[in-house]
Amino acid sequence: MNIRKVVIPVAGWGTRSLPASKNIPKEMLPVYNKPVVQYVVEEAMRAGVEDVIFVTNRDKSVIEDHFDYNLQLESVLERAGKREMLEQVRHVAEMVNIMAVRQKKQLGLGHAVLCARELVGNDPFAVMVGDDLMFGDDAGLQELVRVSKERSMPVIGVMEVPADRINRYGIVTGEEISPGVYSITEMVEKPAVGTTSSRLAIVGRYVLTPDIFEHLSRVKPGHGGEIQLTDALAALARERGMLAVKMGGLRFDAGDWVDYLSANVYLGLLDPGLRDGLRARLRAMLG
Ligand code: G1P
Repeated sequence: MNIRKVVIPVAGWGTRSLPASKNIPKEMLPVYNKPVVQYVVEEAMRAGVEDVIFVTNRDKSVIEDHFDYNLQLESVLERAGKREMLEQVRHVAEMVNIMAVRQKKQLGLGHAVLCARELVGNDPFAVMVGDDLMFGDDAGLQELVRVSKERSMPVIGVMEVPADRINRYGIVTGEEISPGVYSITEMVEKPAVGTTSSRLAIVGRYVLTPDIFEHLSRVKPGHGGEIQLTDALAALARERGMLAVKMGGLRFDAGDWVDYLSANVYLGLLDPGLRDGLRARLRAMLG
């Protein structure tokens, strides 16, 4: 399956990130020197995606603006001779094609994906949750794209989580058909702790076929009274089969403060210009 389009739902309120997200979309909060959503789009590009479809609301247009030219800023940087900055700012506008569709009511992740139906059309596509960050060599959406090409099946990303955290995720049960690849038998959105022995949690990366939209338009509100993507996926898995791939790399949930702060430190430590200074400060604080 060739994946050219990705749907990135970004219409959520971001209450976990308040008060930082009061007037800035949570996806625009910086992790080190880029907004969260830029890392997600860069990961999509590494997987071969060319078109990004944001599912937005009225307060999120700044996300689209981030991936557009800012001619005024560019001319200021040009006049100041700040070539490197200029290149970086321009590069963001040239990464991908951007489309946006409004989610006029916040009815859940499944509903957000359904809003993109017309823009997706009839090709397989990816979905990425806009505040899930994945870092590491070869980690991320490209792992799923590879498996979906090999097997011509929808594929979703999972990671193992501790048993007492399964109630925060969609949980997948499956049969391991090759190392780290599972044929899905069951999926439940945020099961209560102790109700399933599986610890394979969905991590916000999906490669889907357009027949998911039929299921999304039919599913009833599920967990939390919302239209859940997981419920539509479970129906699609029963109908045509679906794979889960245990993803490598590190995942950070940018809506969780421990993860958010850790992601900043992780990226800071990877920057040779910051590493020594950051290490010294961390050592002093921890000591
Ligand atoms: C969504 C999905 C859930 C998945 C999670 C990953 O939940 O519904 O299945 O495990 O993303 O981040 P949310 O975090 O939006 O409640």
